[in-house]
Amino acid sequence: MIDTGVEIRAGCSYQVLIGSGLLDEVGNYTGKHVRSETCAIISDPNVARLFADRVEESLTLAGFKPTLITIPAGERSKTLNQVGTTCQKMVAAGLDRQSLVIGLGGGVIGDLSGFVASIYHRGIPHIQIPTTLLAMVDSSIGGKTAVDTSAGKNLIGAFHQPSLVIDDVDVLKTLPRRQFNQGFAEIIKHAIIADAKMFKQLQSRETRSPWQPLALQRLVCRNIKIKTKIVAQDEYDRTGKRALLNFGHTVGHAIERAGNYRKFLHGEAISLGIVAACAISVKRAGLPPRQRDAVVELLRRFGLPTRLPKDFSRNKILNALKFDKKFEGGKIRFVVTPKIGGAHVSRRVTMEDIREAIGEL
Ligand SMILES: NC(=O)c1ccc[n+]([C@@H]2O[C@H](COP(=O)([O-])OP(=O)(O)OC[C@H]3O[C@@H](n4cnc5c(N)ncnc54)[C@H](O)[C@@H]3O)[C@@H](O)[C@H]2O)c1
Ligand SMILES: [Zn+2]
Repeated sequence: MIDTGVEIRAGCSYQVLIGSGLLDEVGNYTGKHVRSETCAIISDPNVARLFADRVEESLTLAGFKPTLITIPAGERSKTLNQVGTTCQKMVAAGLDRQSLVIGLGGGVIGDLSGFVASIYHRGIPHIQIPTTLLAMVDSSIGGKTAVDTSAGKNLIGAFHQPSLVIDDVDVLKTLPRRQFNQGFAEIIKHAIIADAKMFKQLQSRETRSPWQPLALQRLVCRNIKIKTKIVAQDEYDRTGKRALLNFGHTVGHAIERAGNYRKFLHGEAISLGIVAACAISVKRAGLPPRQRDAVVELLRRFGLPTRLPKDFSRNKILNALKFDKKFEGGKIRFVVTPKIGGAHVSRRVTMEDIREAIGEL
């Protein structure tokens, strides 16, 4: 039986469906939201092997003509080259202005397929079917699409809100443990910046017990609401409100880059970035040290790293910081938390503070 779960209106008037068994209904839901007939399903081989058949079948039954396009799995595929190749495959498959792009996969696929949808024939509709926890609670929401360049992450992209997001929590059953855990870095980030109650609930949870579908649906829904609320106040990242979502990301992105996007998963690097941001918050925003310790403890309980390996070059991280878009014009805007459940952008944080926090990791 299909449980369509929660249906919420996200900030920019698209819908997010959360439930169990939704993959077999993708065609029906898509038909309700877009008029296209032809569509590209963009995925990676790991995900396509598991779920593409069901999605294709459901779309075909609903009268769509899907073309499956896969790109190699992983961050290293989030490039302009892959965007070009994908667009060419779409042209060859006869997709036009009336077509639709469906991203079936994690955040890499979501970001890349969204960017493709934003430029193909100057923009066609995009449906997100996130298959990682991180993509469900974070990357599929908010309309930011992008690819990386050798100079840094997400440097080329566009705002392109999806027409629909379909979160089928059953797909998370095949997600490797490490991938599942990294989603909690963004969830804990959301708790720190906006939801002290969720922080407490995560603390009281027995982390070893498996997540039941309903509990997962609730968790995903709650996190989507947090992100949506923040995005709705600052859709184009201009007023500083949306910047709160970058909590832990200044140092986190630099660690990701210093590890050549191989050593740490995004969420793992963000976990370390959160630890650094908490240390800076103690110094510059009055975060009680007890609360910093509680954050570190919670990250650990979800299997996330809170210390850097001893031999990991701190200098490489400091060099990587220079590529951060947030250091525009040499000014540092750093997101701090004075208390779990709230955050703000501070201009008082110095490069020395950041250096010190990285040194302590
Ligand atoms: N646009 C945004 O607002 C935003 C926000 C946060 C993160 N991101 C981006 O998201 C990306 C990270 O996303 P991710 O962590 O989902 O990575 P990912 O897309 O690389 O997926 C992780 C791995 O899990 C595999 N996988 C995916 N779903 C699976 C499933 N259900 N079962 C088994 N294997 C599965 C994939 O093949 C891949 O190997 C980064 O590029 C990051 O920049 C974007
Ligand atoms: Zn992130």
